[in-house]
Amino acid sequence: MVERRAPRWSELRELVRTRPRTGDATDRRLARAVTVGDLREIARRRAPRAVFDYTDGAAGREIGIRRSREAFERVEFRPSVLRDVSVVDPSTTVLGRPSALPLAFAPTGFTRLMHTEGEVAVARVAERVGVPHALSTMGTTSVEALAAAVPGARRWFQLYLWRDREASADLVARAAAAGFEALVLTVDTPVAGPRLRDVRNGFTIPPTLTLRTVANAARHPHWWVDLLTTEPLEFASLRSWGGTAAELADRVFEPAATLADVRELRERWSGSLVVKGVQTADDARAVVDAGADAVVVSNHGGRQLDRAPTPLEELPAVVAAVGDRAEVYLDGGILDGADVVAAVALGARACLVGRAYLYGLMAGGERGVQRVADILAAEIARTLQLLGVPRVADLTPDRVRLRG
Ligand SMILES: Cc1cc2nc3c(=O)[nH]c(=O)nc-3n(C[C@H](O)[C@H](O)[C@H](O)COP(=O)(O)O)c2cc1C
Repeated sequence: MVERRAPRWSELRELVRTRPRTGDATDRRLARAVTVGDLREIARRRAPRAVFDYTDGAAGREIGIRRSREAFERVEFRPSVLRDVSVVDPSTTVLGRPSALPLAFAPTGFTRLMHTEGEVAVARVAERVGVPHALSTMGTTSVEALAAAVPGARRWFQLYLWRDREASADLVARAAAAGFEALVLTVDTPVAGPRLRDVRNGFTIPPTLTLRTVANAARHPHWWVDLLTTEPLEFASLRSWGGTAAELADRVFEPAATLADVRELRERWSGSLVVKGVQTADDARAVVDAGADAVVVSNHGGRQLDRAPTPLEELPAVVAAVGDRAEVYLDGGILDGADVVAAVALGARACLVGRAYLYGLMAGGERGVQRVADILAAEIARTLQLLGVPRVADLTPDRVRLRG
């Protein structure tokens, strides 16, 4: 029998720790998020449904993005113990220049939709953290405006080849004049992927008010206030648009693009050329033969061809095919710094993240993106320490086994 006594309030007081209230509501909200998944939940609550779904969703039955995430879940790390990991160095080089982490912020279209601070906020965090940022052709900030706002960031420009070749060449020239370091040519988008959540939500660009959106808007007043009281939300590089995201993409994208376009771009662009959306070793070889300095093994985060190859599974073959001639990056489904470490161990020079930083953006603007970067950086460093590998450069494929 346990002998009990009356509680003494003086003892209880000692046990209660009140944390000092620092910052505003956004700071406190973000501080409570421990993982990117936590930020995703905050984003889900804060953004209108169609906006969250446009970001979070993928193509078709969304099997591709699920498989990408499952591949990371199948990773088994193989640590070495009793290594001195008191100091870890998570830095690397990307396109021949230092990057503080093996990470870059992927190009995402219509970023000011998620939060009015948009691409500038994301690029500011990239600059502060010391990783590259890619601005999308479908961005809501122009190449000139981004260069002016964030002159010190490593700025890449993502290009879609358009039916209107002249307009696309003009954009490339503007990116060069604005000092962009690299061109990221996305090649997995001959037509728009079937984004069924957007179809079901009646999602249009720019957002239009239907009875349903108005009803949903009432639950997210801050988002609409932001939309209506800041710079109009529009594509920075498109001359005209309107309609659903898929209609717009189909009007703009060039389904007749070929390797000849890559060769032609190589001649016109003197900076680094990255080809994004490569999904097989054969295609990786072909685009590197055509002049690419780097390839991104990517299926567009599962947003284009559903059930496309899973990037983490495809990575070793791509590295074997072109790794001695080009840098290989990977994206799709990364929600954790340990995912980045696994991909780097399997041969990626770096990983791109898209949704991860967009969840942060929706959860709290620039501060939310910073929170994501801090979480990923801490997870990368801790994973390296627990693996017994003090430097990113020392990661080797034998550190990872894909179960199943
Ligand atoms: C909302 C959203 C918009 C995107 N827009 C573009 C784009 O304009 N150009 C592009 O090359 N890729 C685009 N992507 C794909 C990303 O660059 C990247 O390949 C993908 O997000 C990686 O998967 P993850 O989101 O799971 O990290 C977009 C992705 C998302 C989520």
